[in-house]
Amino acid sequence: MMTAPFTTRALLLEPGALHRRLSHLDCIDELTRRQPKTLAAVVHRVQLGVHNHYVDGMPRVLPMIAGRARGAYLADVDGNTFVDLDNGRGANILGHAPAVVTDALRAALDDGLSFAAGHETETALMGLLLDAVDWAGGGFFGNSGTEATMHALKLARTYTGRPLVAMFDQCYHGHHNDVLATRAPDGSTVGSMPGTARPASTLVLPYDRRAFEVIEARARELACVIVEPIRSSWPQLDRDFLFGLREVTAQHGVLLVFDEVLTGFRFRFGGALGTLGPTPDLATFGKIIGGGLPIGATVGRAEVIEMGVSTGEHLRDMQDRTRILGTFCGNILSCTAGLAQLRYLREHQDSVYATIHAAAERFAGELQRLRDEAGFPIAVRRYESLVRPMFGTMGTDEFVDLVHPQRYPVAEYMWTYYLRAAGVHLPEFLYPLFTAAHDTVVMDAVCEAVTRSVAGLRRDGLL
Ligand SMILES: Cc1ncc(COP(=O)(O)O)c(C=O)c1O
Repeated sequence: MMTAPFTTRALLLEPGALHRRLSHLDCIDELTRRQPKTLAAVVHRVQLGVHNHYVDGMPRVLPMIAGRARGAYLADVDGNTFVDLDNGRGANILGHAPAVVTDALRAALDDGLSFAAGHETETALMGLLLDAVDWAGGGFFGNSGTEATMHALKLARTYTGRPLVAMFDQCYHGHHNDVLATRAPDGSTVGSMPGTARPASTLVLPYDRRAFEVIEARARELACVIVEPIRSSWPQLDRDFLFGLREVTAQHGVLLVFDEVLTGFRFRFGGALGTLGPTPDLATFGKIIGGGLPIGATVGRAEVIEMGVSTGEHLRDMQDRTRILGTFCGNILSCTAGLAQLRYLREHQDSVYATIHAAAERFAGELQRLRDEAGFPIAVRRYESLVRPMFGTMGTDEFVDLVHPQRYPVAEYMWTYYLRAAGVHLPEFLYPLFTAAHDTVVMDAVCEAVTRSVAGLRRDGLL
Protein backbone atom coordinates (compact mmCIF):
# COMPACT_ATOMS: atom_id res chain seq x y z
CA MET A 1 0.00 0.00 0.00
CA MET A 2 1.40 3.40 -0.96
CA THR A 3 1.56 5.92 1.80
CA ALA A 4 1.42 9.33 0.14
CA PRO A 5 0.25 9.96 -3.42
CA PHE A 6 2.87 11.00 -5.92
CA THR A 7 2.66 14.46 -7.37
CA THR A 8 3.11 15.14 -11.07
CA ARG A 9 6.41 16.77 -10.17
CA ALA A 10 7.61 13.57 -8.56
CA LEU A 11 6.58 11.61 -11.60
CA LEU A 12 8.23 13.91 -14.10
CA LEU A 13 11.35 14.93 -12.19
CA GLU A 14 12.10 12.01 -9.94
CA PRO A 15 11.38 8.85 -11.86
CA GLY A 16 14.06 7.04 -9.85
CA ALA A 17 12.12 7.63 -6.66
CA LEU A 18 9.00 6.46 -8.42
CA HIS A 19 10.71 3.24 -9.47
CA ARG A 20 11.91 2.58 -5.94
CA ARG A 21 8.47 3.11 -4.51
CA LEU A 22 6.72 1.14 -7.17
CA SER A 23 9.09 -1.80 -7.45
CA HIS A 24 7.30 -3.67 -4.66
CA LEU A 25 3.93 -3.49 -6.39
CA ASP A 26 2.50 -6.84 -7.38
CA CYS A 27 2.00 -5.93 -11.02
CA ILE A 28 5.62 -4.80 -11.47
CA ASP A 29 6.75 -7.94 -9.70
CA GLU A 30 4.59 -10.07 -11.95
CA LEU A 31 5.72 -8.36 -15.15
CA THR A 32 9.36 -8.58 -14.12
CA ARG A 33 8.87 -12.33 -13.76
CA ARG A 34 6.92 -12.68 -17.01
CA GLN A 35 9.09 -10.40 -19.15
CA PRO A 36 12.72 -11.35 -18.39
CA LYS A 37 13.79 -11.28 -22.07
CA THR A 38 12.04 -7.95 -22.53
CA LEU A 39 13.96 -6.52 -19.60
CA ALA A 40 17.22 -7.97 -20.92
CA ALA A 41 16.48 -6.51 -24.35
CA VAL A 42 15.98 -3.06 -22.79
CA VAL A 43 19.29 -3.34 -20.94
CA HIS A 44 21.04 -4.50 -24.13
CA ARG A 45 19.69 -1.50 -26.06
CA VAL A 46 20.90 0.88 -23.40
CA GLN A 47 24.35 -0.73 -23.36
CA LEU A 48 24.61 -0.43 -27.14
CA GLY A 49 23.19 3.09 -27.20
CA VAL A 50 20.07 2.17 -29.18
CA HIS A 51 17.35 4.72 -28.52
CA ASN A 52 13.82 5.26 -29.64
CA HIS A 53 11.06 7.58 -28.56
CA TYR A 54 8.81 4.64 -27.69
CA VAL A 55 11.40 3.23 -25.31
CA ASP A 56 13.41 6.20 -24.08
CA GLY A 57 11.17 9.20 -24.74
CA MET A 58 9.93 9.34 -21.15
CA PRO A 59 10.77 7.64 -17.85
CA ARG A 60 9.37 4.14 -18.25
CA VAL A 61 9.23 1.46 -15.61
CA LEU A 62 9.16 -1.35 -18.17
CA PRO A 63 9.23 -0.44 -21.88
CA MET A 64 7.58 -2.82 -24.33
CA ILE A 65 9.89 -4.61 -26.76
CA ALA A 66 7.72 -6.15 -29.46
CA GLY A 67 8.31 -9.56 -30.99
CA ARG A 68 5.46 -9.78 -33.47
CA ALA A 69 1.92 -8.59 -33.93
CA ARG A 70 -1.16 -10.06 -35.61
CA GLY A 71 -4.77 -8.95 -35.60
CA ALA A 72 -5.66 -7.42 -32.24
CA TYR A 73 -2.60 -8.90 -30.50
CA LEU A 74 0.99 -7.92 -29.86
CA ALA A 75 3.57 -10.34 -28.48
CA ASP A 76 6.67 -9.26 -26.59
CA VAL A 77 10.07 -10.91 -27.04
CA ASP A 78 9.23 -13.27 -24.18
CA GLY A 79 6.30 -14.62 -26.17
CA ASN A 80 3.63 -13.11 -23.89
CA THR A 81 0.63 -12.01 -25.92
CA PHE A 82 -1.34 -8.87 -25.15
CA VAL A 83 -4.42 -7.32 -26.68
CA ASP A 84 -2.96 -4.26 -28.36
CA LEU A 85 -4.83 -1.00 -27.80
CA ASP A 86 -2.14 1.07 -29.51
CA ASN A 87 -2.05 -0.63 -32.91
CA GLY A 88 0.91 1.18 -34.34
CA ARG A 89 -0.46 4.48 -32.99
CA GLY A 90 -3.59 3.86 -34.96
CA ALA A 91 -2.07 3.11 -38.36
CA ASN A 92 -3.32 -0.48 -38.45
CA ILE A 93 -7.05 0.13 -38.60
CA LEU A 94 -7.71 -3.43 -39.76
CA GLY A 95 -5.56 -4.86 -36.97
CA HIS A 96 -1.91 -5.87 -37.28
CA ALA A 97 -0.68 -7.36 -40.55
CA PRO A 98 -4.04 -8.10 -42.21
CA ALA A 99 -3.74 -10.58 -45.08
CA VAL A 100 -5.18 -8.09 -47.54
CA VAL A 101 -2.17 -5.82 -46.92
CA THR A 102 0.58 -8.43 -46.50
CA ASP A 103 -0.55 -10.31 -49.65
CA ALA A 104 -0.43 -7.07 -51.65
CA LEU A 105 3.04 -6.32 -50.30
CA ARG A 106 4.31 -9.81 -51.12
CA ALA A 107 3.02 -9.49 -54.66
CA ALA A 108 4.71 -6.08 -55.05
CA LEU A 109 8.11 -7.00 -53.62
CA ASP A 110 9.55 -8.45 -56.81
CA ASP A 111 8.91 -5.25 -58.74
CA GLY A 112 11.31 -3.11 -56.70
CA LEU A 113 11.50 -1.38 -53.34
CA SER A 114 11.92 2.32 -54.14
CA PHE A 115 12.00 4.09 -57.47
CA ALA A 116 12.39 7.84 -57.01
CA ALA A 117 10.00 8.01 -59.95
CA GLY A 118 6.25 8.24 -60.31
CA HIS A 119 4.35 4.96 -60.43
CA GLU A 120 0.83 3.72 -60.96
CA THR A 121 0.26 2.63 -57.37
CA GLU A 122 0.93 6.20 -56.20
CA THR A 123 -1.59 7.45 -58.78
CA ALA A 124 -4.16 4.89 -57.63
CA LEU A 125 -3.73 5.72 -53.92
CA MET A 126 -3.83 9.48 -54.42
CA GLY A 127 -6.81 9.02 -56.76
CA LEU A 128 -8.62 7.09 -54.05
CA LEU A 129 -7.73 9.69 -51.42
CA LEU A 130 -8.96 12.54 -53.61
CA ASP A 131 -12.18 10.65 -54.32
CA ALA A 132 -12.82 10.34 -50.58
CA VAL A 133 -11.81 13.97 -49.87
CA ASP A 134 -13.72 15.29 -52.84
CA TRP A 135 -13.19 19.02 -52.28
CA ALA A 136 -9.42 18.54 -52.83
CA GLY A 137 -8.02 18.87 -56.34
CA GLY A 138 -4.56 17.38 -55.87
CA GLY A 139 -1.91 16.31 -53.42
CA PHE A 140 1.56 15.09 -52.59
CA PHE A 141 2.77 12.13 -50.60
CA GLY A 142 5.44 12.41 -47.92
CA ASN A 143 6.76 9.87 -45.45
CA SER A 144 5.00 10.75 -42.21
CA GLY A 145 2.30 12.90 -40.69
CA THR A 146 5.03 15.34 -39.69
CA GLU A 147 6.11 15.76 -43.29
CA ALA A 148 2.50 16.18 -44.37
CA THR A 149 1.94 19.15 -42.03
CA MET A 150 5.37 20.59 -42.88
CA HIS A 151 4.47 20.47 -46.57
CA ALA A 152 1.06 22.04 -45.92
CA LEU A 153 2.60 25.03 -44.14
CA LYS A 154 5.16 25.50 -46.91
CA LEU A 155 2.45 25.44 -49.57
CA ALA A 156 0.35 27.93 -47.60
CA ARG A 157 3.25 30.36 -47.16
CA THR A 158 4.09 30.14 -50.85
CA TYR A 159 0.48 30.65 -51.93
CA THR A 160 -0.20 33.64 -49.69
CA GLY A 161 3.30 35.14 -49.64
CA ARG A 162 2.86 35.57 -45.87
CA PRO A 163 5.39 34.39 -43.28
CA LEU A 164 3.40 33.33 -40.19
CA VAL A 165 1.46 30.18 -39.40
CA ALA A 166 -0.93 29.71 -36.49
CA MET A 167 -1.76 26.58 -34.56
CA PHE A 168 -3.72 25.86 -31.40
CA ASP A 169 -2.71 25.07 -27.91
CA GLN A 170 -3.45 21.40 -27.12
CA CYS A 171 -3.09 20.34 -30.75
CA TYR A 172 -0.34 18.10 -32.08
CA HIS A 173 0.94 18.32 -35.64
CA GLY A 174 4.15 16.32 -35.54
CA HIS A 175 7.75 17.20 -34.83
CA HIS A 176 9.06 19.90 -37.18
CA ASN A 177 10.10 23.31 -35.95
CA ASP A 178 7.02 25.26 -37.03
CA VAL A 179 4.72 23.19 -34.83
CA LEU A 180 6.95 22.43 -31.85
CA ALA A 181 5.58 25.49 -30.15
CA THR A 182 3.40 26.12 -27.18
CA ARG A 183 1.48 28.97 -25.57
CA ALA A 184 3.10 30.50 -22.52
CA PRO A 185 0.85 31.69 -19.67
CA ASP A 186 1.24 35.30 -20.89
CA GLY A 187 -0.10 34.29 -24.31
CA SER A 188 3.25 34.42 -26.09
CA THR A 189 4.57 31.56 -28.21
CA VAL A 190 7.58 29.61 -27.03
CA GLY A 191 9.34 26.47 -28.27
CA SER A 192 7.88 23.32 -26.75
CA MET A 193 11.24 21.63 -26.18
CA PRO A 194 14.96 22.34 -26.28
CA GLY A 195 16.72 21.91 -29.59
CA THR A 196 14.13 23.59 -31.78
CA ALA A 197 14.49 26.84 -33.70
CA ARG A 198 12.82 29.78 -31.98
CA PRO A 199 9.25 29.63 -33.27
CA ALA A 200 9.43 33.19 -34.58
CA SER A 201 7.04 32.42 -37.41
CA THR A 202 4.42 30.51 -35.41
CA LEU A 203 1.55 31.83 -33.30
CA VAL A 204 -0.03 29.47 -30.80
CA LEU A 205 -3.67 30.37 -30.22
CA PRO A 206 -6.12 29.38 -27.50
CA TYR A 207 -8.58 26.73 -28.73
CA ASP A 208 -11.61 28.99 -28.48
CA ARG A 209 -13.15 32.07 -30.03
CA ARG A 210 -10.50 34.37 -28.52
CA ALA A 211 -8.31 33.07 -31.34
CA PHE A 212 -10.47 34.83 -33.93
CA GLU A 213 -9.39 38.28 -32.72
CA VAL A 214 -5.73 37.34 -33.00
CA ILE A 215 -6.29 35.96 -36.49
CA GLU A 216 -7.97 39.20 -37.53
CA ALA A 217 -5.25 41.35 -35.97
CA ARG A 218 -2.38 39.40 -37.55
CA ALA A 219 -4.10 38.41 -40.82
CA ARG A 220 -1.80 40.33 -43.10
CA GLU A 221 1.18 38.28 -41.91
CA LEU A 222 -0.69 35.01 -41.54
CA ALA A 223 -0.44 32.30 -44.23
CA CYS A 224 -2.60 29.69 -42.56
CA VAL A 225 -4.18 28.31 -39.44
CA ILE A 226 -3.70 24.59 -38.84
CA VAL A 227 -6.09 22.70 -36.59
CA GLU A 228 -7.07 19.15 -35.66
CA PRO A 229 -10.80 19.12 -36.47
CA ILE A 230 -11.19 16.68 -33.58
CA ARG A 231 -8.39 17.14 -31.06
CA SER A 232 -6.82 13.89 -29.96
CA SER A 233 -5.98 15.56 -26.64
CA TRP A 234 -9.66 16.37 -26.01
CA PRO A 235 -11.95 14.54 -28.40
CA GLN A 236 -15.05 16.57 -29.13
CA LEU A 237 -16.70 18.15 -32.14
CA ASP A 238 -17.09 21.90 -31.81
CA ARG A 239 -18.86 22.77 -35.03
CA ASP A 240 -19.51 26.43 -34.17
CA PHE A 241 -15.85 26.94 -33.45
CA LEU A 242 -14.76 25.27 -36.69
CA PHE A 243 -17.29 27.18 -38.80
CA GLY A 244 -16.25 30.41 -37.06
CA LEU A 245 -12.64 29.62 -37.83
CA ARG A 246 -13.52 29.01 -41.46
CA GLU A 247 -15.32 32.31 -41.64
CA VAL A 248 -12.62 34.43 -40.08
CA THR A 249 -9.82 32.82 -42.12
CA ALA A 250 -11.74 33.10 -45.39
CA GLN A 251 -12.54 36.76 -44.72
CA HIS A 252 -8.86 37.56 -44.45
CA GLY A 253 -7.38 35.29 -47.12
CA VAL A 254 -5.78 33.06 -44.48
CA LEU A 255 -5.74 29.39 -45.48
CA LEU A 256 -7.33 26.80 -43.21
CA VAL A 257 -5.54 23.48 -42.83
CA PHE A 258 -7.23 20.44 -41.26
CA ASP A 259 -4.72 18.05 -39.78
CA GLU A 260 -6.38 14.67 -40.27
CA VAL A 261 -3.28 12.55 -39.66
CA LEU A 262 -4.98 10.85 -36.73
CA THR A 263 -8.65 11.36 -37.57
CA GLY A 264 -8.65 10.70 -41.32
CA PHE A 265 -10.46 7.46 -42.22
CA ARG A 266 -10.82 6.68 -38.49
CA PHE A 267 -14.55 7.41 -38.03
CA ARG A 268 -15.71 7.14 -41.62
CA PHE A 269 -14.22 6.66 -45.08
CA GLY A 270 -12.62 10.06 -45.64
CA GLY A 271 -12.06 13.12 -43.47
CA ALA A 272 -13.30 13.08 -39.89
CA LEU A 273 -16.25 15.39 -40.37
CA GLY A 274 -17.53 14.71 -43.89
CA THR A 275 -20.39 17.11 -44.42
CA LEU A 276 -20.63 17.95 -40.70
CA GLY A 277 -17.85 20.50 -40.85
CA PRO A 278 -16.54 23.35 -43.01
CA THR A 279 -14.27 22.77 -45.98
CA PRO A 280 -10.62 23.67 -45.40
CA ASP A 281 -8.12 24.73 -48.06
CA LEU A 282 -5.61 21.99 -47.28
CA ALA A 283 -5.73 18.74 -45.31
CA THR A 284 -3.07 16.37 -44.11
CA PHE A 285 -3.29 12.62 -43.74
CA GLY A 286 -0.99 9.83 -42.54
CA LYS A 287 -1.23 6.68 -40.41
CA ILE A 288 -4.23 4.75 -41.83
CA ILE A 289 -3.59 5.73 -45.47
CA GLY A 290 -0.22 3.90 -45.34
CA GLY A 291 -1.64 0.52 -44.35
CA GLY A 292 0.93 0.22 -41.54
CA LEU A 293 3.91 1.57 -43.51
CA PRO A 294 5.33 5.12 -43.30
CA ILE A 295 3.37 7.72 -45.21
CA GLY A 296 1.95 11.23 -45.14
CA ALA A 297 -0.20 13.11 -47.61
CA THR A 298 -0.99 16.77 -48.15
CA VAL A 299 -4.05 17.43 -50.28
CA GLY A 300 -5.90 20.61 -51.07
CA ARG A 301 -7.37 23.09 -53.46
CA ALA A 302 -5.67 22.73 -56.84
CA GLU A 303 -4.31 26.31 -56.91
CA VAL A 304 -2.65 25.86 -53.51
CA ILE A 305 -1.22 22.42 -54.30
CA GLU A 306 0.15 23.92 -57.52
CA MET A 307 2.58 25.93 -55.39
CA GLY A 308 4.68 22.75 -55.20
CA VAL A 309 4.47 22.03 -58.94
CA SER A 310 6.86 23.47 -61.52
CA THR A 311 5.57 26.32 -63.70
CA GLY A 312 7.69 24.90 -66.52
CA GLU A 313 10.11 27.83 -66.26
CA HIS A 314 13.03 27.28 -63.98
CA LEU A 315 13.65 30.93 -63.14
CA ARG A 316 10.00 31.50 -62.29
CA ASP A 317 9.98 28.36 -60.16
CA MET A 318 12.87 29.72 -58.12
CA GLN A 319 10.72 32.69 -57.13
CA ASP A 320 7.17 31.37 -57.09
CA ARG A 321 7.33 27.72 -56.18
CA THR A 322 8.23 25.76 -53.11
CA ARG A 323 9.51 22.21 -53.37
CA ILE A 324 8.07 19.09 -51.80
CA LEU A 325 11.15 16.93 -51.49
CA GLY A 326 12.10 13.52 -50.11
CA THR A 327 13.91 10.43 -51.39
CA PHE A 328 11.10 8.12 -50.33
CA CYS A 329 8.05 10.29 -51.07
CA GLY A 330 5.39 8.12 -52.70
CA ASN A 331 7.35 4.97 -51.88
CA ILE A 332 5.98 1.98 -53.74
CA LEU A 333 5.62 -0.28 -50.70
CA SER A 334 3.90 2.37 -48.57
CA CYS A 335 1.54 3.12 -51.45
CA THR A 336 0.91 -0.60 -52.02
CA ALA A 337 0.04 -1.19 -48.36
CA GLY A 338 -2.04 1.99 -48.18
CA LEU A 339 -3.95 1.16 -51.35
CA ALA A 340 -4.75 -2.36 -50.15
CA GLN A 341 -5.91 -1.09 -46.75
CA LEU A 342 -8.01 1.77 -48.13
CA ARG A 343 -9.63 -0.39 -50.83
CA TYR A 344 -10.60 -2.96 -48.22
CA LEU A 345 -11.84 -0.20 -45.95
CA ARG A 346 -13.93 1.33 -48.72
CA GLU A 347 -15.53 -2.03 -49.55
CA HIS A 348 -16.16 -3.04 -45.92
CA GLN A 349 -16.68 0.36 -44.37
CA ASP A 350 -20.00 -0.40 -42.74
CA SER A 351 -18.77 -3.45 -40.84
CA VAL A 352 -15.30 -2.07 -40.04
CA TYR A 353 -16.53 1.21 -38.60
CA ALA A 354 -19.36 -0.54 -36.75
CA THR A 355 -16.83 -2.88 -35.05
CA ILE A 356 -14.50 -0.02 -34.13
CA HIS A 357 -17.34 2.10 -32.82
CA ALA A 358 -18.69 -0.79 -30.74
CA ALA A 359 -15.22 -1.48 -29.28
CA ALA A 360 -14.85 2.17 -28.25
CA GLU A 361 -18.34 2.20 -26.79
CA ARG A 362 -17.65 -0.88 -24.69
CA PHE A 363 -14.32 0.45 -23.46
CA ALA A 364 -15.79 3.82 -22.49
CA GLY A 365 -18.87 2.07 -21.05
CA GLU A 366 -16.76 -0.18 -18.85
CA LEU A 367 -14.91 2.80 -17.40
CA GLN A 368 -18.15 4.68 -16.85
CA ARG A 369 -19.63 1.63 -15.16
CA LEU A 370 -16.66 1.47 -12.79
CA ARG A 371 -17.13 5.16 -12.03
CA ASP A 372 -20.91 5.01 -11.57
CA GLU A 373 -21.24 1.67 -9.82
CA ALA A 374 -18.00 1.40 -7.87
CA GLY A 375 -17.26 5.08 -7.41
CA PHE A 376 -13.78 5.09 -8.95
CA PRO A 377 -12.47 8.56 -9.86
CA ILE A 378 -12.60 8.02 -13.59
CA ALA A 379 -13.33 10.58 -16.31
CA VAL A 380 -13.93 9.76 -19.95
CA ARG A 381 -13.91 12.17 -22.86
CA ARG A 382 -15.06 10.63 -26.12
CA TYR A 383 -15.82 11.47 -29.74
CA GLU A 384 -16.95 8.48 -31.81
CA SER A 385 -14.12 5.91 -31.50
CA LEU A 386 -11.63 8.32 -29.94
CA VAL A 387 -11.77 7.72 -26.20
CA ARG A 388 -9.64 9.59 -23.67
CA PRO A 389 -9.70 7.85 -20.32
CA MET A 390 -8.46 9.85 -17.34
CA PHE A 391 -8.24 9.27 -13.62
CA GLY A 392 -9.26 12.06 -11.26
CA THR A 393 -12.24 13.84 -9.81
CA MET A 394 -12.32 16.64 -12.37
CA GLY A 395 -15.15 16.86 -14.87
CA THR A 396 -14.77 16.64 -18.62
CA ASP A 397 -16.66 19.73 -19.74
CA GLU A 398 -13.51 21.82 -20.02
CA PHE A 399 -10.09 20.76 -21.23
CA VAL A 400 -7.92 19.53 -18.37
CA ASP A 401 -4.23 18.84 -18.70
CA LEU A 402 -2.08 16.38 -16.84
CA VAL A 403 -1.17 18.83 -14.10
CA HIS A 404 -4.78 19.67 -13.20
CA PRO A 405 -4.92 19.50 -9.38
CA GLN A 406 -7.78 16.99 -9.42
CA ARG A 407 -6.13 14.67 -11.93
CA TYR A 408 -4.18 11.57 -10.85
CA PRO A 409 -1.28 11.30 -13.29
CA VAL A 410 0.55 8.58 -11.40
CA ALA A 411 -2.50 6.33 -11.58
CA GLU A 412 -2.77 7.06 -15.31
CA TYR A 413 0.91 6.31 -15.78
CA MET A 414 0.83 3.12 -13.73
CA TRP A 415 -2.37 1.94 -15.39
CA THR A 416 -0.18 0.81 -18.30
CA TYR A 417 1.44 -1.83 -16.10
CA TYR A 418 -1.72 -3.00 -14.35
CA LEU A 419 -3.34 -3.37 -17.77
CA ARG A 420 -0.33 -5.22 -19.11
CA ALA A 421 -0.36 -7.61 -16.17
CA ALA A 422 -4.02 -8.21 -17.04
CA GLY A 423 -3.14 -8.91 -20.70
CA VAL A 424 -3.60 -5.54 -22.44
CA HIS A 425 -0.98 -3.27 -24.01
CA LEU A 426 -1.60 0.48 -23.78
CA PRO A 427 1.50 2.72 -23.53
CA GLU A 428 1.86 5.20 -20.67
CA PHE A 429 -0.52 8.17 -20.84
CA LEU A 430 -1.87 7.13 -24.21
CA TYR A 431 -5.44 6.55 -25.25
CA PRO A 432 -6.63 3.47 -27.15
CA LEU A 433 -6.98 3.33 -30.92
CA PHE A 434 -9.31 0.49 -31.86
CA THR A 435 -9.30 -1.62 -35.00
CA ALA A 436 -11.58 -3.91 -36.98
CA ALA A 437 -9.89 -6.83 -35.15
CA HIS A 438 -11.24 -5.63 -31.79
CA ASP A 439 -14.37 -7.74 -31.94
CA THR A 440 -16.61 -8.69 -29.03
CA VAL A 441 -14.40 -11.59 -27.91
CA VAL A 442 -11.35 -9.33 -27.78
CA MET A 443 -13.32 -6.59 -26.05
CA ASP A 444 -14.64 -9.05 -23.45
CA ALA A 445 -11.00 -9.64 -22.48
CA VAL A 446 -10.24 -5.91 -22.55
CA CYS A 447 -13.18 -5.07 -20.30
CA GLU A 448 -12.14 -7.75 -17.85
CA ALA A 449 -8.60 -6.36 -17.86
CA VAL A 450 -9.89 -2.82 -17.33
CA THR A 451 -11.84 -3.94 -14.26
CA ARG A 452 -8.91 -5.94 -12.90
CA SER A 453 -6.41 -3.16 -13.50
CA VAL A 454 -8.53 -0.45 -11.90
CA ALA A 455 -9.13 -2.72 -8.90
CA GLY A 456 -5.35 -3.25 -8.73
CA LEU A 457 -4.70 0.50 -8.73
CA ARG A 458 -7.19 0.89 -5.91
CA ARG A 459 -5.77 -2.05 -3.96
CA ASP A 460 -2.29 -0.57 -4.14
CA GLY A 461 -3.45 2.87 -3.07
CA LEU A 462 -2.85 4.57 -6.41
CA LEU A 463 -6.45 5.41 -7.14
C1 LIG B 1 -2.80 15.08 -35.62
C2 LIG B 1 -1.42 14.60 -35.89
N1 LIG B 1 -0.65 15.28 -36.74
C3 LIG B 1 0.60 14.89 -37.05
C4 LIG B 1 1.14 13.77 -36.46
C5 LIG B 1 2.55 13.35 -36.79
O1 LIG B 1 2.55 12.19 -37.54
P1 LIG B 1 3.84 11.26 -37.56
O2 LIG B 1 4.02 10.71 -36.20
O3 LIG B 1 3.52 10.22 -38.61
O4 LIG B 1 4.99 12.13 -37.99
C6 LIG B 1 0.36 13.02 -35.58
C7 LIG B 1 0.93 11.81 -34.93
O5 LIG B 1 0.43 11.26 -34.00
C8 LIG B 1 -0.94 13.45 -35.27
O6 LIG B 1 -1.72 12.78 -34.40
